[in-house]
Amino acid sequence: MKSQEIRERYLKFFEKRGHKVIPSASLLPANYDIPDKGTLFTTAGMQPLVPYLLGAKHPAGTRLVDVQKCVRTGDIDDVGDNRHCTFFEMMGNWSLGDYFKEESIAWSLEFLTSKEEGLGLDPSRFYMTVFKGEDGIPRDNDSIRIWKENFAKHGIEAEVSGDDEYIKGEIRILPLGKDDNFWIAGATGPCGGDTEMFYDVLGEEKGGKLEGKFADLVKSGRLIEVWNNVFMEFNKTADGKYEMLAKPNVDTGMGLERTTVVMQGKENVFETDIFESLLGLIKRLAIKRDEKAERIVADHIRSAVMIISDGVTPSNTEAGYVLRRVLRRAIRYIDQLGIKNEEILNIAKAAIAELSYAYPILLVKENEILDVIKNEDEKFRRTLRDGIQSLKKIFNSAIGGIDPENLPPGTVITGNVIRVNGEIIFNIYQSYGVPIEISQEIMSGWGLAFDEQTMKEAKNAYIKHQAISKAGSEQKFKGGLAGTGEIETKYHTATHLLLSALRKVLGGEIVQKGSNITVERMRFDFNWPEKLMPEQIKKVEDLVNEKIAEKIPVQMMELPKEEAKKIVTTLSFDLSKYGDVVKVYKIDDFSAEFCGGPHVSNTSELGHFKIVKEEAVSAGVRRIKAVLTCVLCRSR
Ligand code: ALA
Repeated sequence: MKSQEIRERYLKFFEKRGHKVIPSASLLPANYDIPDKGTLFTTAGMQPLVPYLLGAKHPAGTRLVDVQKCVRTGDIDDVGDNRHCTFFEMMGNWSLGDYFKEESIAWSLEFLTSKEEGLGLDPSRFYMTVFKGEDGIPRDNDSIRIWKENFAKHGIEAEVSGDDEYIKGEIRILPLGKDDNFWIAGATGPCGGDTEMFYDVLGEEKGGKLEGKFADLVKSGRLIEVWNNVFMEFNKTADGKYEMLAKPNVDTGMGLERTTVVMQGKENVFETDIFESLLGLIKRLAIKRDEKAERIVADHIRSAVMIISDGVTPSNTEAGYVLRRVLRRAIRYIDQLGIKNEEILNIAKAAIAELSYAYPILLVKENEILDVIKNEDEKFRRTLRDGIQSLKKIFNSAIGGIDPENLPPGTVITGNVIRVNGEIIFNIYQSYGVPIEISQEIMSGWGLAFDEQTMKEAKNAYIKHQAISKAGSEQKFKGGLAGTGEIETKYHTATHLLLSALRKVLGGEIVQKGSNITVERMRFDFNWPEKLMPEQIKKVEDLVNEKIAEKIPVQMMELPKEEAKKIVTTLSFDLSKYGDVVKVYKIDDFSAEFCGGPHVSNTSELGHFKIVKEEAVSAGVRRIKAVLTCVLCRSR
């Protein structure tokens, strides 16, 4: 059965049972109070329906069915393995205070097994989990009974597992705890116990009689979850209480991709018809075979097309940042496959053609989407060139012959192998997005290698840091990227250091004429009539790095405006718009600025400051672009 037929059968099945078909909501969550802090994208079918699940009246009634587009990028690095996609579609049927467990379970099994109206799967290959009760919420005995009755319609006498969660004999109903069978989107909001439906993909003929611990059978891939019905009875409030909803709801989620895998008897989604034409094109364009790269390109281009069609453009924050990351990752793998740059547009066109079956608006927006992709492709390639340029600067000694006296710190020479500190290469990757493999290739052309150990350490420090900033917000339901705010904060403090350094080197008349910070760099405009000399640039850089090395605490003071005026170094802003009490950020006697913050607490957090560009903006105004390398180091 083709994926499109699964989609249509699903909608029709529930339409026939009184459900209104509603269109997919945008990928960008909007117009509702997100129960968690908010996700950048719609990550589950129920997300756009939260207000209705909490009791608001839905214009289409109390029984709804849809196929919701979703994006999850939390596990972007796992794309290309067998299980992960960043873009996926979730089929769902909803009861808004209408039917409950009886109908929900009966219809689910009917859809899964009916040859005429549903998927026609073998009922004896299904295993169902239910909520076993925990934290004062009782065991879901109703669902156990209802499953038994529905299995019995197929002549199956289903039994229930014990606490060992072990399947043998006729056991096909498993009561599990809160971690498995209680569903909530984030920290607060509508929630309840759920029942999940698992399919034995091998079946008795190929895999022998199914027996074993439930979790092991899932881990091995023999049991695949295809559907989740949440019986929403509570609203979890911010203070951790479960309030009963006025009327209970049913929220179900059935992944279209996962279901297609099962229906087509494939190992994973990339082998199904969903990816067939796109992967076929990518393989034809590629000059080498690399399964993982092919899958990443296909998945990421699909995501990008869908995200752009909902009005996002690449940027350095929030949804735009995720789009940028997805696109740039696709571009890197396009290169890795030896596909010509411009083919990205043909790949995108193929994705649009395929997805337009369900989302015809893509055809209307095709040119717009292709333009966004083309621009980002060009921009990324420019950034790459800048990164390579910066690499060359660091190794200027390496161009036209290596000068061993003049290699970066941390370089080790053993025999005739020159091994550079791996942290430098990792930082180039972090600052410019130059893939490590590319840096390596360029360096090997100069007879340089990099040290694996220091590279690994830099990478681990980065991952650890990310894990720390993520830990607090990690939920079952999550779609963002952590850490960008922190990087921007560092650049913010670096901006204050830069202004003071410019005043020390060029004179006290220097004021800020503009500033712009992204996660990749800082930009700073100031009044100066001519090009800076290389020695001046070096002095400014050295001075900033000196202040970083001094590990100076950054102090925040709230002072009456008049007091503050006495200590601030520069008056770049019009003070009339500030209140009577203002914030001043002070870094020793080196810098004191009016500023709302935020800033790092100690200059040592900034890593290494480097000016990468100095240019004119207009008559009398110069612009500096600078980067912090090792921006994620806690201290030096
Ligand atoms: N809201 C449930 C899920 O996303 C159905 O799994």
